[in-house]
Order: sequence, then C-alpha cells, then structure tokens
Amino acid sequence: MTAVDLEPRGTELIDELRATEYQRLDAQGHIYLDYTGAGLHARSQVEEHLRLLNDEVLGNPHSASPSSAAATALVERARAAVLRYFNAGDEYACIFTPNATGALRLVGESYPFAPGGRFLATFDNHNSVNGIRQFARAKRAQAAYVSLDTADLRVTDACLERHLRAADRTSPNLLAYPAQSNFSGVQHPLGWIERAHDLGWDVLLDCAAFVPTSRLDLSSVKPDFVAISFYKMFGYPSGIGALIARRERLACLQRPWFSGGTVLAATVQGQIAVPRTDHAMFEDGTVNYLAIPAVEIGLRHLERIGIDRISGRVEQLGTWLLGALRSLRHSDGSPATRVYGPQTWDRRGATIAFNFLHPNGRPVDERFVDLVAAQHRVSVRTGCFCNPGAGEVAFSIAPERLATVRLGRCTTVDDYLRRIGMASGGAVRASLGLASNCADVRGFLAFAAEFCDLASVPSDLPPRQAC
Ligand SMILES: Cc1ncc(COP(=O)(O)O)c(C=O)c1O
Repeated sequence: MTAVDLEPRGTELIDELRATEYQRLDAQGHIYLDYTGAGLHARSQVEEHLRLLNDEVLGNPHSASPSSAAATALVERARAAVLRYFNAGDEYACIFTPNATGALRLVGESYPFAPGGRFLATFDNHNSVNGIRQFARAKRAQAAYVSLDTADLRVTDACLERHLRAADRTSPNLLAYPAQSNFSGVQHPLGWIERAHDLGWDVLLDCAAFVPTSRLDLSSVKPDFVAISFYKMFGYPSGIGALIARRERLACLQRPWFSGGTVLAATVQGQIAVPRTDHAMFEDGTVNYLAIPAVEIGLRHLERIGIDRISGRVEQLGTWLLGALRSLRHSDGSPATRVYGPQTWDRRGATIAFNFLHPNGRPVDERFVDLVAAQHRVSVRTGCFCNPGAGEVAFSIAPERLATVRLGRCTTVDDYLRRIGMASGGAVRASLGLASNCADVRGFLAFAAEFCDLASVPSDLPPRQAC
C-alpha cells in the first residue's frame, strides 16, 4: 500500500465499531496485535450476555424443570447457530468443548487407530495436534510428518501426495493439518481434503487460526473433523470451543470412557453402559450452559460485520504491514527484519512471524522485544507459539541435531535452546484481526523503528520460562 492509499476501503463500518465497541483499545493507547492468540470482544456482546444472565433463570440442562429446559433451549440454539454459521447442514454435528485443544483431544483419543493405519500431520501444526501422535502410537498405528519447504513454510503437493499414497486403505488413516498456520499465517489448501478422502484418509482440519478472519463453508469443503475456539473468533466467551464433525465419521469414533451426560443408562452391578449418540456422546458432564449462549451472540456480531469484510480488512492492513516490515533497514542498508513464511500476500492470513535483526544479522533477543513492546503498549507474541515443527524449519534447526540432543537432560528453557542451536528464543508474531486499524499498523511500525541500528541488548534479561 502506498502512502496515499493507507486507509482501507470498504471497511468504514469496522472503523465505526472500533470507536464504539472496542473503544477501550484507544482509551488505553493499546496496540493489540495478538489476534491469533485471542480475539477481542465487542462491548455489546458482553452487555447482551449480561442481560440474558440477569433476566433468565437457568439451571443444569437436560432435565424436566423449567430452569433446565430454558438452559437446554439456549444451548441447542447456540449449537444450531454454529452449524448455520459454517453452512454445515444436517451432515455435521457440533460438540461443545472447552477449547480447540479439547476438540482435538476428543478426536485423538477416540479415533480407531490400529496397526497398519497411520496418523499423518504436517510439520506446521499446533502442539495440540502434535499430541495426537501419542494416541496413534499407543494403538500401534504409525505416526508420520509431512515436511515444509524452507523458503515459504508451505507443503508441496508432491510431498503430501507421496505420504497420502502410502496409506493402507484397509486400516483407519487420519490426516491432520491447520487451515491456517498459527506460526507463519500460511493457508494450507482446503483442496487436500478431497484428495485425502480419495486415497483413504479421514481429515482433521484445525481451524482455530483460520476462522477468525476467513470463511469456512462446510457445504463446499468436507473435512471429517473441525476444531475451533470461539474466543479466537470474537473474544468472548473464553473457555468454549467446538468439534464440528461429519455425523457419519463421528459414529466411527470410539470413546475410551463414559461419563455423566454421555450415556443413556449405565449399571453398576451388570457393568453395562448404553452410550448416547451424536454430539451427546462426546459432551462429558455438564456443558458450560451459562457461557454457551454467548457463542450465539458472538456469531451474530460476526455476521453483522461480515467475514468477507473482515478478510478484506486484514488483507489490506496485512499487505501494508508485511511490506513495511520487510523493507525496514538499518542506516547501513542492511535488513532490520527477517520474515518467516510467505513474503507476499498470497494464500496467507494475517499472522506474520519475524525477527528483528541487529546490523550484524543476528536476531534481536525476543525478551528485549517484549520489553520494548510493553513500553509502547504493544501486545504481540514472542517464542515458538506451540508450533515446534514450523519453528524448526524457520530457524533451520538440523534434524540430526534434534535427534541427538538429550532433551530430558535440559534443566531450563535456555539450556534447551542452547542445545538445539537456536540463536534466540523464537520469533515475534504480529497478528491482525477484526478490530485492527491503520493506527495500529502505524503505531506498530513506530515501535519497529526502535530496532533500527540496535547493536546490542542488555545482558540482564530474565531467564526464559517457556518457548
Ligand atoms: C492453529 C491452532 N490450533 C490449536 C490451538 C489451540 O487452541 P486452544 O488453546 O484454544 O485450545 C491454537 C491456539 O493458539 C492454534 O492457533
């Protein structure tokens, strides 16, 4: 974007909302650029939810009392709203979970992995997907990864195809990948779903980082399982996610236990349990019936704005931010940043991972970036964002080195980073979202300029607590 063209067009409504619904950001001079970490709620979402809680008498759902019936009706309305929002029709069921991780775990622990079958994941995955390999291995299925291209952190179609073709179609096979990377912002092709189905795979699509700014239309793409967290979409409520699953594939999952809420009946003396079906088989105990109605309110808020308007907005702002970061220079002309992943706005979302560089080319310690960010009231994320595979490729950590390091011997995070050969504790991640505006980008670039000609950082930075 050029200097005369900085104001995004067609998204004036978002600027109005920023001044009313998200006014707290400007009141505090806060530059919030961590939407991949968490979305922000509009004031009206909380007010509407509060009114509902104060006006209704809501009891534990699924019994006959009026208070229970009222809670059940609200939960079911929210469930229907989720399916409607994603255009899912009757083919899909919506299971409420505590978060995307809870949805991923439900699939991992219940998927009928078996010897001869496979769990295949892209290097680029959140640890909540990586962890599924433990369930696969415990059932003696093979766990394998598809690597990323170093230049843009994408998967080549040929590489994926090779892995998909290796499946034994007589055993259950599960492919898991993120529709959008929470590390690089890469949007991996949704066209893989159909291809994987053709070659005998079920597909688990992690949409936690995708759906806050992109349209997922389940009438046109048909993943078997979709994991999301609602706080990432519209900020409030936290603590609720969903597994949206094709009913036909949901019926193939085998839960490792039963609990209150998931059985029609269970006996102690006969030790018999009759499971419920569909979503009810997967919602353990009492669902969060007071918070779930706020999901419907949040979805209405998104619908009023329009997801396409939000996509367009973050694309305009993100193109500007990405270009400006890439062209940041020290006074000797050397680059002041290194961006990981796609270098242009092509098949990507509004999550940008990068490091500031010293004039000698070394990355600026991310702990110092955190300190300067706090002084500027900038919220960004630093580290590896629970996505070790994308980080290993971005930071060129040799597989041989990872294979030989005895991680069990590492006593601190700094010790671990030293042993695997990391020059810093990870990247800086700036992510845009629904309420982002031009002033955020301008403020962020003013903050970024602080790193130009920075020769060194203080030697007394605190030890790292996580990576
Ligand atoms: C792509 C992706 N998947 C899964 C998760 C896990 O989400 P949650 O922590 O809400 O369970 C995240 C969280 O950042 C994410 O970005």
